[in-house]
Amino acid sequence: FRTLDDADLKGRRALVRVDFNVPMHEGEVSDNTRLRAAVPTIETLRAGGAKVILLAHFDRPKGKVVPAMSLEPIAPALAKVLGAPVAFGPDCVGPAAASAIAAMKDGDVLLLENVRFHAGEEANDPEFAKALAANGDLYVNDAFSAAHRAHASTAALAHLLPAYAGEQMRLELTALDKALGHPERPVMGIVGGSKVSSKLDLLRNLVTRLDKLAIGGGMANTFLYAQGHDVGLSYCEKDLAETARDIIRLAGQNNCKLFLPLDIVVAETLAPGAAARVRGLGEVDEHERILDAGPETVERLCRAMDNSKTLIWNGPLGVFEIPPFDKGTVSAARHAAALAKSGKLVAVAGGGDTVAALNVAGCADDFTFVSTAGGAFLEWMEGKELPGVAALAN
Ligand code: 3PG
Repeated sequence: FRTLDDADLKGRRALVRVDFNVPMHEGEVSDNTRLRAAVPTIETLRAGGAKVILLAHFDRPKGKVVPAMSLEPIAPALAKVLGAPVAFGPDCVGPAAASAIAAMKDGDVLLLENVRFHAGEEANDPEFAKALAANGDLYVNDAFSAAHRAHASTAALAHLLPAYAGEQMRLELTALDKALGHPERPVMGIVGGSKVSSKLDLLRNLVTRLDKLAIGGGMANTFLYAQGHDVGLSYCEKDLAETARDIIRLAGQNNCKLFLPLDIVVAETLAPGAAARVRGLGEVDEHERILDAGPETVERLCRAMDNSKTLIWNGPLGVFEIPPFDKGTVSAARHAAALAKSGKLVAVAGGGDTVAALNVAGCADDFTFVSTAGGAFLEWMEGKELPGVAALAN
């Protein structure tokens, strides 16, 4: 697909889909990663003399105007990150949008109100897409993290104007291709988090593509249970035991070496500083919960990373939010980061909790690439085509 290097920008109105679905606390942006991610594209457009009109969603207002879900507080936060003024337009279509755009000079930046205040957005409604397109001369999608949604501003709009991939979109796709599309082998995956049920398609796809896959976090309990181990009071999806055995078989058929825990950290309560014990498999008693990967498990993962060229990571190995159950995740993440920093490993991470876990470990910056995406990263790991990416290719 086309990138902005190919675009004629001077004096043109660029409609840019960004993902400003950012964490807010008491009306203020509490993590501006996604705002910073949009800066390179905005800068390129400004430098080329375009009028930069930003389209974004926030939360899930379901087609209604919900004042608490307004994008207005994002404009000053973006201005700070950008070091330039950002105007705000109180609607993304219609007269309010048109008059805000009419007041723009070349190089100006305008953020329009939440596209999800209109039902046509999530319905991918062609009429709503036309109303959006009326305000632009070209379209740029820089929202990889919203590309799993086939919505008007991520999908239909791309067919109505000359469409380009923004810089963050390009970075994400390049990194993900390097990690899973065309990786340097051996390629290893670490998948953690609690629910096997939410990651079935992902596990099934990964075992056919990776050389090694480590399963950690709560979902490993389901695999241990499926292999006949006692898991005490641990979180465990017992009804998925057969599915877990299928995944183990599928891994074997595809020569993907599976790494399940060798030892685990247990406690009777999940509380900060709770008395934690290391247990071997089969040693968990009925009052205990598995809350982290054990030291032997982590050591084996680190050795497997040493012998890999590429690592793709999604999901924590334990309850990283509550020390001491962050230890497994933190040690493994720091090891991956050190290998990546020294150029020995391409380490790519993404999806929801993963970035938060790397931040707890203080090593996100040393990873080769950390995706800004949650759900989109997971769908991409499942091998699904992302509608927002597909729309740019046509
Ligand atoms: C995200 O935050 O992952 C994206 O912005 C998508 O948001 P959604 O899950 O509400 O569609």
